[in-house]
Amino acid sequence: MTARSSIGFRSLTDEIDHDCSVTGTLPDWLSGTLIRNGPGAFEMAGSSVDHWFDGLAMLHAFTFGDGVTYRNRFVRSDAYRSARNGNFESGFATGNTTLRDRLRAFLFEKPYDNANIIAERIGDDYLALTELPRWVAFDPDTLETLGHVQYDGPEPAGNLACAHLKRDPVTDELVNFETSFGRNCHYHVHSIPSATDREHICSIPVDEPAYMHSFALTPNYVVLTEFPFVVNPLDFIKPGAQGPFIENFTWKPERGTRFFVIDRRRGTVVAAPRTEAFFGFHHANAYEDDGEIVLDLETVPDATAIEVLYIDNLRDGNFGGLSGRLERFRVDPESETVERERMYDGTALPTTSPDRWCRKHRYVYAQSPDPQMTTWPEAIAKIDTETHRAVEFADEGSYLGEPIFVPNPDGERVDDGVILTLSLDPATERSSLIVVDGESLAELARAEVPHSIPFDFHGRFFPELTG
Ligand SMILES: [Fe+2]
Repeated sequence: MTARSSIGFRSLTDEIDHDCSVTGTLPDWLSGTLIRNGPGAFEMAGSSVDHWFDGLAMLHAFTFGDGVTYRNRFVRSDAYRSARNGNFESGFATGNTTLRDRLRAFLFEKPYDNANIIAERIGDDYLALTELPRWVAFDPDTLETLGHVQYDGPEPAGNLACAHLKRDPVTDELVNFETSFGRNCHYHVHSIPSATDREHICSIPVDEPAYMHSFALTPNYVVLTEFPFVVNPLDFIKPGAQGPFIENFTWKPERGTRFFVIDRRRGTVVAAPRTEAFFGFHHANAYEDDGEIVLDLETVPDATAIEVLYIDNLRDGNFGGLSGRLERFRVDPESETVERERMYDGTALPTTSPDRWCRKHRYVYAQSPDPQMTTWPEAIAKIDTETHRAVEFADEGSYLGEPIFVPNPDGERVDDGVILTLSLDPATERSSLIVVDGESLAELARAEVPHSIPFDFHGRFFPELTG
């Protein structure tokens, strides 16, 4: 049965420039642009995707200045052009074709470029990113696609590239990892001074690479949290290889979850402790505390969340297994031990203040579904990591997206700022960008959009983009 929330999985084809009507009062310090990325269309020219992660990338920009302007554009990728011709190429979990050649092309020959996960500034470039290393540059003012960027220098590169680069806000250094597949597989960790440069930090040989959607960065360490959701790399290249990318991975809980702790300066793995098996997509933040590394992660028990995210399942309103739990892991590189602490049940897409990235934070912001996830999230939460209590904001009857905290540049408290979240009202079939007070979570203002924005993934606020 089609669920009320299925509107969030309905294709959006309009591309518009719009002066939003604003109700409420915007803070006078709020200036810059929120760029969100996510799937815009799930069907095109008679062809369709199987999985939420494979919807065609669409960028949405909200610029705050005198009021709020909104603009949305599809990323003009090869995947987009192919879909316009009625052919969704083999994606993360979509592939009507089971030909080995398609899988090989996806990873090795012409990496899949449906860059629908996040928009990031790398050096002077603004890029739409997915989990393959063929990024798509765009003009941040017009959202016009500019072209592909793929590293082809001498440093070791991977076939998969994490879309969640980590920025150290003190040094402005960007760090990322890639995974290379072949007879010998590696995780490669780099500092990334520009979209076309790499400074190699470390390469870790691995027998069966894991699917890791994000990682952690602190002033001195990179931490790869290696979940036991792994692939035999030969499965990608052997005769008879088949199926979309992610269906080649297997859950092997007997391996446990391993934390590779890498010294950023020396480029060495200083510890690799294992703990019991769990899975997750997002590291909310990490920092160092008295010799230990503290990681706040959203966890789920295993990798079945990926199966839940098939589009027919989501349109039917079956979200069981998607709701995460915010947990704190303390990794001691000396004793190679891991302590695990449960902080909050019922989260999705956790974030922290960009001012606190890599440093001790107090608050984590997240969508706040009920722990059984009987509906798509209808609230966001500000979770206090000291008290494990949360304050919530809900927009009666509407679905709320990933919360993005924007600090007040003149603020003194760590929660002096606003939280930006997209709200989709299934009754009016329209979305609004809501500005919520960072301390009280009271609504300050909302900017209306004349269409419904499909449920998306991630946003980034760029204060330098003032329109
Ligand atoms: Fe993500």
